[in-house]
This record gives sequence, C-alpha cells and structure tokens, in this order.
Amino acid sequence: MSDERMLIVGGQRLEGVVHVSGGKNTAVAIIPATILSQTPCVIENLPDIEDVHVSIETLRYLGAMVEWNPQEGIMIVDSSTINRTDVPLELCRRMRASSYYIGALLARFGSAQVPLPGGCDIGRRPIDQHIKGMRALGAEVETCHGTVNARANCLTGNDVFMDMVTVGGTVNVMLAATHAEGLTTIYNAAKEPHIVDLANFLGSIGCRVKGAGTDVIRIRGNPNLAARRPYAVIPDQIETGTLMIAAAATHGDVTITGCIPTHMEALTAKLLEMGARVEDKDDAIRVRSIGAHRAVSFKTQVYPGFPTDLQQPMSALLCTATGTSTVVENIFESRFRHLAEMERMGANVRIYEQTAVIEGIPQLHSAAVEATDLRAGAALVIAGLMAQGTTEIYNTHFIDRGYEHLEKKLNSLGAQISRISD
Ligand code: EPU
Repeated sequence: MSDERMLIVGGQRLEGVVHVSGGKNTAVAIIPATILSQTPCVIENLPDIEDVHVSIETLRYLGAMVEWNPQEGIMIVDSSTINRTDVPLELCRRMRASSYYIGALLARFGSAQVPLPGGCDIGRRPIDQHIKGMRALGAEVETCHGTVNARANCLTGNDVFMDMVTVGGTVNVMLAATHAEGLTTIYNAAKEPHIVDLANFLGSIGCRVKGAGTDVIRIRGNPNLAARRPYAVIPDQIETGTLMIAAAATHGDVTITGCIPTHMEALTAKLLEMGARVEDKDDAIRVRSIGAHRAVSFKTQVYPGFPTDLQQPMSALLCTATGTSTVVENIFESRFRHLAEMERMGANVRIYEQTAVIEGIPQLHSAAVEATDLRAGAALVIAGLMAQGTTEIYNTHFIDRGYEHLEKKLNSLGAQISRISD
C-alpha cells in the first residue's frame, strides 16, 4: 500500500487525447472466473491497479500459475495447479471482490472458505443475496467467525430471485451456476456492462449464458469449461466518466478514446444539461466546456441509471456550478464523505441522510484533504483540478486501487499533479 500524498496545482485547463484503461469491476470478476476453466486463460486489456494485484496474489495463494505483464495488461492463468480452496483474511480485507472466489471455488471444487470481504467503506455491504443464490443451487453455506464456508457435492441449477439488484450477487451466482447441473435462472439480475462482459467471458470458455444485460439471466451449467482464445475486458466505464468530468471541470477540450459511449449515457445527459458539449464517436467521447456550468440534480440508480461510482466525482463538479444541485445517493449509505472534505475547500453543502444539497460557489480554494475511499479520491482530484492553489490529497492508495496511472493521464492533458512520499 502506498503512503503518499498527491499535490495538485489547480486551474490548469485539460486539453488533448487520452486512452481509457480496461475496467476494474469487470477485471475483478473475470480474474476469479479463470478458475472455472480447465485450460489456461489469456486475459487482455487488464488495468495495472491494486485490485488486480490483489487478485493475482489470491490466485497464486490458491496455487494457480499466473503470468502478468502490466505494461501490456495481459495475464495468463493456469488454474489446473490450484491445491486449496481458502482465501486468507489479509487478501479479503483489501478487496471487495474477494467474495467472487466463493462462487468460483464452489463451482470448480465444491468447497470455499472465504472471509467476509473488505473494500471501500461506503456503507453496509452485506452478501446475503450471494449466499441465498448459492443455497438455491444446493450448496451448504455458513458464516462462522467472519468466514463464509461453502460446500456442495453437486450443484443443481435452479431459479434464483434477487431481493434487490446487486452487481456482486449476480456475479457470484453466475460463477457458481457455471458448473451446476441444468439451468439456473437469475431474476432481478444486475444489468451493468461488467455483467455482460462476464457473460461474454463465460461464453468464450464454453458456458451458455443468455440474457445478460437484461434482468433475467439464464445459465446452462457445464463442468467441462475450457478457454480457447484470449479474452479482452471492456474499457472502464467509471474511469471514462471521471475523465469526462475532469474535462468539464477544467473547461477543457478532451477526447477519451477506447471507450464505449453507450455506457456513458446517464453522465452525458447530465453534462449536456450543465452546459458542457459532449460528442460521441464510435469508440471515443469528446467533452468540451466553456463558461459557467448550470446546477443539475440527479439520483443514483442501477444501470442504465446514473451510477453511484460517478456520483462522487460529479458532485465535486457541482460544487462550482451556478445554482442549487440536489444529489440523492440510493445505492450506498455513506457515499458523501468527499463532500465533508470539500467543505475545507470552501464547498457549500448540506447533507440530509441520503441527499446532498449543493449550493454552487464561483471558486474552490486549495486545502489538505483526505481520500476516504476510491471514488472519494477521484472526487477530490476533480476538486483539486478546479481549485485555486495547490491541493494536497492524503490516502492516495485508495485512488491506486481502481485508477491506472490517473495523474500520469491527467498530466498528459496539461494537469500539474505530483506525488510525495511521507
Ligand atoms: N446488497 C445487499 N445484499 C447483498 C448484496 C448487496 O443488501 O447480498 C445491497 C448493498 O448493501 C447495496 C446494494 O445492494 O446497498 C448494491 O450493492 P451491489 O451488490 O450492487 O454492489 P457491490 O457488488 O458490492 C459493485 C461495485 C461497486 C459499485 C456497486 C454498484 C465491484 C467490485 N464493485 O459493488 O464499485 O459501486 O457494484 O454499482 O464490482 C467502485 O468501483 O468504487 C465500487 C464501489
């Protein structure tokens, strides 16, 4: 874990072209899914981020052979040498997606012992729906002293009704269902792009998945899954959005290449409403902005609604918009901590439970602030880019969990960001 501070000299206009990295939330689902294949898997376009490093450590701990080329973003995983089905607490504490090893290990080996996951502190993050789904497939699942113990001699396909839309729950039940006998149908499934990407990866190793991207997903189990060709993960929707917001925040002119514009529609609509110009091309988005932004209001929702992961960078931008913005966070209980930090920079914000009321001010000023989670860190970077003076961000390791070389990319567009070690 890095022990560094980020220094941002505010007020620099961003201009130019930047390429988006592979998706974090799709990478952390597809990497455990390589356990399901009897032959080595080649995964491409992986981001060089801390969550991927933890995933590699986890696979190696289990006994898998992993080759990782961070420059190329290519990983080769041979899971045939896996010789244990427990994941240590130290790794689970560092990554929310460690829970995906329950579904993958249970499917392939009929056994998993995985401590409850850590990850960003953004409110309660239970995994009851993951467990409910695995039980529906016939697994015995108990949580004892903070560790989930799952066992099954044979999993059998079944109907699984999710009580709420959950990305993690949908991923985990999909993974568990891949080796189950017969058909599993997940109702009220998540529709996020990374669910579709996971389904495409599972298809590439021979598992029949239908309906991904809708709220009903059907998986026909097959115990003989085998990778036959390399699989490239989709671009990161949240990194794309963060760069779009950074372009608007600095009244810049930035083209983000290698992205999927249709994944960005909720954000694009809000940036247009604020007065920014957004143009979509096949696999690129150009964001330009001149003059003051108008305040806008939004509520976070499951895909294709406004993503909770972009609420934090977007609400940072709204701190300097003209007028009053209202932001309702519907997915997580505690995702406004960046706004409390931004009050140190002059932001005028009132928080009422899940609602933030933001009165725009003309100019933020620099301060020393602390990232409290990954997207809070991204929000503070946006704030630092807009502020007058040099902003110091503590706890940069949160940013490194999910953004590949963020300051390098922003500096290539004209930002002035550096790091110093404490
Ligand atoms: N929930 C339950 N029970 C469950 C599962 C979820 O009550 O068994 C609740 C949660 O408490 C939350 C809501 O359902 O209120 C949605 O949680 P979800 O399961 O969808 O979230 P997640 O799988 O824990 C993933 C991403 C998050 C992203 C959310 C929502 C990964 C590894 N993480 O989390 O990403 O915010 O979906 O889209 O995919 C991030 O990238 O910064 C991040 C936090």
